[in-house]
Amino acid sequence: MAADTDPDRYAFVVASNRLPVDRVVDEDGNEGWRHSPGGLVTALEPVMRANDGAWVGWVGQPDVEVAPFDNEGIHIVPVPLSADDVEEYYEGFSNDTLWPLYHDVIEHPSYHRDWWNAYKRVNERFATQIAEIVEQDGVVWVQDYQLQLLPALLRAKRPDLTIGFFNHIPFPPVGIYAQLPWRAQILDGLLGADVIGFQRQDDAADFLRAVRHIKGYTTKGSTIDVPVDDPAAPRSRKGITVRHVEARHFPISIDAESFEEIAHRPEVQARAREIRESLGNPTTVLLGVDRLDYTKGIRHRIKAFGELVEDGRIAVEDATLVQVASPSRERVDTYAALRDEIELTVGRINGDLGVIGHQPIAYLHHGYPREEMVALYLAADIMLVTALRDGMNLVAKEYVAARFDNDGVLILSEFAGAADELKQAVIVNPHDIGALKDSIQRAIEMPRRERSTRMRALRKRVRDNDVARWSRSFLEALDRHAPRGSRIDPS
Ligand code: G6P
Repeated sequence: MAADTDPDRYAFVVASNRLPVDRVVDEDGNEGWRHSPGGLVTALEPVMRANDGAWVGWVGQPDVEVAPFDNEGIHIVPVPLSADDVEEYYEGFSNDTLWPLYHDVIEHPSYHRDWWNAYKRVNERFATQIAEIVEQDGVVWVQDYQLQLLPALLRAKRPDLTIGFFNHIPFPPVGIYAQLPWRAQILDGLLGADVIGFQRQDDAADFLRAVRHIKGYTTKGSTIDVPVDDPAAPRSRKGITVRHVEARHFPISIDAESFEEIAHRPEVQARAREIRESLGNPTTVLLGVDRLDYTKGIRHRIKAFGELVEDGRIAVEDATLVQVASPSRERVDTYAALRDEIELTVGRINGDLGVIGHQPIAYLHHGYPREEMVALYLAADIMLVTALRDGMNLVAKEYVAARFDNDGVLILSEFAGAADELKQAVIVNPHDIGALKDSIQRAIEMPRRERSTRMRALRKRVRDNDVARWSRSFLEALDRHAPRGSRIDPS
């Protein structure tokens, strides 16, 4: 890898809507930055260090202008968003148009031309900023649905770059995707990349189908022929000059070792015991952990559990469902409505079925630090991941990674990307409430030996395919597209 010659230019740049740091302001108004320990940062930190990398993104608050700075060895380059950008690009187009459209239209996507203009404007701002800071022949890795126009915008400004894109959420079937008034422009944006990564094989196949149907381009296996106006470019079988773009699946994962390490800490295990005690030591603790999002199937899970108690199949003193729902996108109407609905349902179930000293559902509308999450994983006999649609679902993998005791049962929706890999989970269709109830009962009654056999197999899978492997395989694929050979060290 070539040494960085200009201190303000970087050989490797990651772009995501949110930066991997949170802005914190103390009581005296002094501002600082807290490293947010997400899986993506953990995976990319070593690559960043080995390649003199920079991370470009939004600080998470409107109208905050911050100069680039270093945080724990990562160069951070903030992109400012105004209050209007946040409303129209982030809450609007990203999370009220694309998010529901890409998640099976569980909620209705809203199509507004103003939002689309804001999406273009913010993607353009990212492109301008990145084009100024990447070295000649550098590598840029764009993350997720908020930045789908960025690959082509960047390529237009800097044709020397090698560009990757990874979609963390599902890609919809063409029959749904075709609703989008700007369907062709989004495909053009993505096709500016050299490698486009998806979570599941089905997502990549749906994307390739959209490219054929909407753009009329030829695909062969995972390779797309994108016509280019460059006489030096290779010719396709149709005799036109093309760029080859690769679209395939690279299932993301977690830093499994770090979850296992935390789970081994005596204070975390003590906390897990304390959690069970404070719930009144029920025989079975069930757990759900999600952002409060309509894609997660929280209502279905609560309904199934409530009915089991109501039917008398579970005694209220014997089992507690702990539901952690972390606040998310609260200014988007569908999210605010979901919160009201869930809280009404939880209140009704607890009111109707609770007894003094015991509530069926312990509902927590908070986010927690990783240590507390691991303590909850260790305290839970059954983990419920009942997403109606989910790109991957890393909570499922975190639960498995934490269970070094080879105990615990994972109930996993077939509509989460994780189900492609975690086949020894109890797989459910969360829409089928009857079957979900039976699966919960089966998990409660599952013999220790079966729990252990399943958990061992799940753990092997998660340990073997951790997030470092994910980033390595994506960057190796990207490297094969670099015009003058290897330029990044995937560590
Ligand atoms: C999903 C998306 C991410 C996003 C995260 C949190 O996992 O794939 O891109 O950052 O949700 O959502 P937020 O809107 O708070 O960034």
